[in-house]
Amino acid sequence: MTSPDAPTSHVFSRKLTRTSPRIVRGEGCWLYAADGRAYLDGVGGAFVVNVGHGVREIADAIGRQAARLAYVNGTAFTSDPVEELAEEIARRSPGDLELVYPLSSGSEAVEAALKLARQYCVESGQPARRKVVTLSPGYHGNTLLALSASARAHYTTFFRDWLVPVVRVPAPYAYRCECRGVAPLCPSCSGAALEAAIEREGPDTIAAVIAEPVGGSSTGASVPAPSYWPRVRAACDRYGILLVADEVLTGAGRTGTWSALEPYGVGPDIMTLGKGIAGGYVPLSAVVAPRRITDVLARGSGALLHAQTFSHHATLCAAGVATLRYLRTHSLIERCAAMGPVFHERLAALRELPCVGDVRGRGLLAGVEFVADPASRAPFPRSARFAESFAAAALEAGLLVWPNVGQADGTHGDLAMLAPPFIVSPEEIDLIVERFGQALRATVDRIGAIA
Ligand SMILES: Cc1ncc(COP(=O)(O)O)c(C=O)c1O
Repeated sequence: MTSPDAPTSHVFSRKLTRTSPRIVRGEGCWLYAADGRAYLDGVGGAFVVNVGHGVREIADAIGRQAARLAYVNGTAFTSDPVEELAEEIARRSPGDLELVYPLSSGSEAVEAALKLARQYCVESGQPARRKVVTLSPGYHGNTLLALSASARAHYTTFFRDWLVPVVRVPAPYAYRCECRGVAPLCPSCSGAALEAAIEREGPDTIAAVIAEPVGGSSTGASVPAPSYWPRVRAACDRYGILLVADEVLTGAGRTGTWSALEPYGVGPDIMTLGKGIAGGYVPLSAVVAPRRITDVLARGSGALLHAQTFSHHATLCAAGVATLRYLRTHSLIERCAAMGPVFHERLAALRELPCVGDVRGRGLLAGVEFVADPASRAPFPRSARFAESFAAAALEAGLLVWPNVGQADGTHGDLAMLAPPFIVSPEEIDLIVERFGQALRATVDRIGAIA
């Protein structure tokens, strides 16, 4: 029974204290609400929408597959879309990464990748390798193993007792490092801190290092120095540790190359993908691994012990195939690479605005860090809820951004991320910058008013 004044929606919303605009249609970089308002999608929903909203041929491919064969269980069968998706991803993957395990969410892919690393260690006769090394700040998902690997204190509030210990190493986060990314690099930015942690923990006890090759929402698109990943790769090789590149956010071209690790000239042992591989048309993620790892499982237990009902899903994989082919036939990753410099050049204007400490990123991925004092880089007090206020003001101005908090010290720090679809035009980039500025001025006025 509902009381007369009870809310009418039965959705258990992500935000329980407010209602959200109801979006009824998407086209290109734009979202249209039931009340007639239009929003410029400056962040592809959540770094997901790369080919743009409303691509008919992807929708048709999903419909065709669902009508022909929606689902078979991956334990008993394979199907055309599963085979084709694996081929599409394998052909783009670095080094010897050629086997693809499709799942649904990024968190699932991270869980599966870490289990794969551990299972490989045990089945290859290295059972003492049980530790996982991660970067802090960093984010790998919200299921319990992925959350354990994430350095995102506020998400763990009620679940700390359920998390597994991991080894945390300061991320190469130039804006908040001693060296600010300028040589001579500090231990965090050079990779020395990660190497030292491996040596301190005992290299033979470590199964894997998992990291985002270019920072996602935790370090706001921080791009490590060119020497960082080669040094980490060399340390992993020296000690027989698996390097897991979490490319859930950065993969599928978001930074202008298929994977964000590519420009560093090194490859991982295991890669996770998600978000952009199906462009938001369905939830799809993947673990990509080499035969040298899967062969060990094949000779041992015979399977990755991570069976899930909806892995290897025919319709989801068909959406992935259609998205990856669309990216290829329309040269959209090349377009992302070409638009990246335009995007960052125009975003540079934001540096002149009040409370902007840094603007950074690569390709069509950018982070804008807000600070109370740009000279000292002092963050706002958490109670000001700057990032949240800014995101609300941006929505009011008709721009969707992704806010994030806590990156300065685990509690304080405010970021807004941008990651528009790869089809974004220069005019739409100008509009993003204009609306961003408008929202920032409104936020500063509001924070000023309550200070
Ligand atoms: C780098 C990274 N890994 C994993 C995840 C988790 O993905 P999902 O939210 O699809 O579970 C995210 C999500 O933002 C991410 O950015």
